[in-house]
Amino acid sequence: MNCLHSPYYNRPIQPEVGHRMLRLRNKRILLGITGGIAAYKSAELTRELRRQGAEVHVVMTRAGQEFITPLTLQALSGNPVHTDLLDPEAEAGMGHIELARWADLVLVAPATADFMSRMAAGLGNDLLTTLCLATHSPIALAPAMNQGMWQDPATQKSIETLKSRGVTLFGPAEGSQACGEVGPGRMLEPVELVEHCAGMFQFECLTGKRVMITAGPTREAIDPVRYITNHSSGKMGFALAEAAAEAGAEVLLVAGPVNLETPERVKRVNIVSAEDLYKAVHDNMDDQDIFIGTAAVADYRPAQCAPGKLKKDPNSDAGLTIEMVRNPDIIASVAKLPEGKRPFTVGFAAETSDVVGYAKGKLQRKSLNMIIANDVSDSSIGFNSDNNAVTVIAPDYEEAIPTGSKRTLARQLVKMISQQFEQTRKQ
Ligand code: C5P
Repeated sequence: MNCLHSPYYNRPIQPEVGHRMLRLRNKRILLGITGGIAAYKSAELTRELRRQGAEVHVVMTRAGQEFITPLTLQALSGNPVHTDLLDPEAEAGMGHIELARWADLVLVAPATADFMSRMAAGLGNDLLTTLCLATHSPIALAPAMNQGMWQDPATQKSIETLKSRGVTLFGPAEGSQACGEVGPGRMLEPVELVEHCAGMFQFECLTGKRVMITAGPTREAIDPVRYITNHSSGKMGFALAEAAAEAGAEVLLVAGPVNLETPERVKRVNIVSAEDLYKAVHDNMDDQDIFIGTAAVADYRPAQCAPGKLKKDPNSDAGLTIEMVRNPDIIASVAKLPEGKRPFTVGFAAETSDVVGYAKGKLQRKSLNMIIANDVSDSSIGFNSDNNAVTVIAPDYEEAIPTGSKRTLARQLVKMISQQFEQTRKQ
């Protein structure tokens, strides 16, 4: 039997291996190791998962530790290995509930007949079974056992129960076994398991894509202590960065001066002025699939930044005139990149009147693929608010999204952006 087409695995394997492997970048895999001879392959599996970009935490049952040492797995995973449910020291670090929440996928490899029976019975009598009960993430098992144990009705019953609860099985393969017998029950090879893990994430809408997002205001210096800026909080851009990372993208967030924490799994570059932003965007543009400009870029900057603090004239009430010059339009410069270098480009338009009309004008003038228009005259949405309501506009598409939290809205927008992105790629 070809193990990649095992009847126990319910998702088809697709051929473009190199591209699919990107899907483990930033993924968090909780690897459970139970007590079977195939546990020696878990060392290679850990290495391979990490080589493909995943972060790995290992949990071992007591029997698992008889076959391979926690020290080996600690060295290979780069993280402490978790072995005990009732260990106060471990619980003070990353406790079992935190671990269960941390995982994007729980993979138990090898999964013994005993482990599967305990899991099917809903037991939580060690750390690994407890984690499987507590997690909301998908669980996959890579069974490994003697062919007789595999074919035993008790094991088959457990498997049916687990599958009915949504647990996925990777393998087992058929062939010669460590015990000398021949039949089904061999654990899949580490590279095959990694392939299957990558397959678990293939339905996230931005999996394997690179997304650059600009966020926040810019500051344009007048002198060493003064600057011109705007009210942008950066909240919308940060929420989009979080949602894009959740949807599987590799996200680079280029942020102006804001008081916000970098979302998890997002790479951040800080900038101050529009000129810094222009440089950071173009320095990092290689291989970006999608560019989203939420930054409120100052359109003008003082022609010169005075070398010292500007002083008022104590003998005169005369005003001060600052000569301003235009800043580069960053998003327009991205949208004008030549084919092959140009990412799918999405702009934001903050307007106070005729919101949709002005946004449509900008979509055309700046050669964007999409623009998201919002009405900043309403203080309950827009700039500093946690809420927003927008209209999404593309050349042959328009949809209003009613008021919601910037977080919820960001998820909706990411979905819409990925759909439009896929559509333009097909054209
Ligand atoms: O023209 P306006 O500033 O309203 O356009 C808004 C859109 O253009 C936003 O996506 C914003 O990030 C982008 N923009 C830019 N560079 C500028 C001005 C705006 O990238 N200098």
